[in-house]
Amino acid sequence: MLASVAECHLRGKCRPATVSAPMSVPFRPLQIGNVPIGMPAVQAALSGYSDLPMRLVAREHGASYALHELVLDELVLKKGKLQQQILAVPEQDHPVGGQLMGSVPATFAAAARKLVDAGFDVVDINFGCPVNKVLGRCRGGYLLQHPDEALALVDAVLQSVQGDAPVTVKMRRGYDDGPAAEKNFWAILDGVFARGVAAVTVHPRTVVQKYVGPSRWEFLARVKAHAGERTILGSGDLFSAFDVVRMLQQTGVDGVTVARGCIGYPFVFDQVRALLEGRVPMRPTHAQLARALMRHLELTVAQYGDRALSSLRSHAIKYAQFHREPIRARTTMVAARNLVELESSISALFFCDETDERAEPLSPTDAIVPSMSAAE
Ligand SMILES: Cc1cc2nc3c(=O)[nH]c(=O)nc-3n(C[C@H](O)[C@H](O)[C@H](O)COP(=O)(O)O)c2cc1C
Repeated sequence: MLASVAECHLRGKCRPATVSAPMSVPFRPLQIGNVPIGMPAVQAALSGYSDLPMRLVAREHGASYALHELVLDELVLKKGKLQQQILAVPEQDHPVGGQLMGSVPATFAAAARKLVDAGFDVVDINFGCPVNKVLGRCRGGYLLQHPDEALALVDAVLQSVQGDAPVTVKMRRGYDDGPAAEKNFWAILDGVFARGVAAVTVHPRTVVQKYVGPSRWEFLARVKAHAGERTILGSGDLFSAFDVVRMLQQTGVDGVTVARGCIGYPFVFDQVRALLEGRVPMRPTHAQLARALMRHLELTVAQYGDRALSSLRSHAIKYAQFHREPIRARTTMVAARNLVELESSISALFFCDETDERAEPLSPTDAIVPSMSAAE
């Protein structure tokens, strides 16, 4: 679960800003296998969030690549409405990565093939999910303790995909902090690249750590130094465009996946682009927040019809964090009993603010940092 607004705090109150704007930052356009991505800040896979509406809103705000939320391989293969929904890849949702978890090579490989046939541009393999139920079923982060099993899954996927799409891996920096975990990490990293995986995303927290404590960027720098020319994406503690640029500069990674930092805040992608191009990134006005949220609403209704409200609420409360009165915005939107009420809350909360028509420069202290304890 994500932290609530009440648990969140502005970065400026808890840690110092280290990068100031404007600045121009030379960067290499990101490429994953034969798929050109460009701007090196992409939208992470986010269970419960990174569905089609979120991905499209992110793209409309500059995201160069977006990942579908993690899907169990068996669900990709099981005929039905969910399968149809997963496998529907509209034209405007490219390039898109499909992320799978599982434990049986044949099932994993068959699901990967389905994703490619459906039009996913990249197949991503999850070796990082820390949820207890997932670990108990020998999936996700469990596989970091079992390099042979992990590499068998990668072999099966590569064989089934047959080069028709790049295959990538997402992993944490180990299962725990023990020496065996680190050895396993390097064995898996080297093993997947040796087999032909196109890129690896590293979230340098351990599985046991879940989200408690900082993401170890110095570990990411070691991974990139070790990987050389091979493509590494970094993850962890990216709560503003300034963090993204700092991670690129400090660790040398080829790209980053923005996760909690883009839920309810698609603006981060355009802001990164501005920083990289030496332009001043702008803070969204209330009207821009409202337009993005209304667009999210429109896309969610198109995707889920009557079931749109619960999905929208979870996004709306994240947008609320960036309202000048976050608690009032959150309370009002949570109280909406139907889509009509939600829509009128958005209009009343954001559009009526005539004093906020001029965008202001983004400050490095603008980020919302969730204070998570043992979130899964
Ligand atoms: C609500 C939530 C859902 C997530 N879902 C996924 C997922 O489906 N697949 C994945 O690889 N990582 C998932 N992650 C991990 C993120 O992609 C990312 O690695 C992690 O949150 C660290 O980045 P951050 O500190 O910038 O949020 C999830 C994280 C959160 C908070």
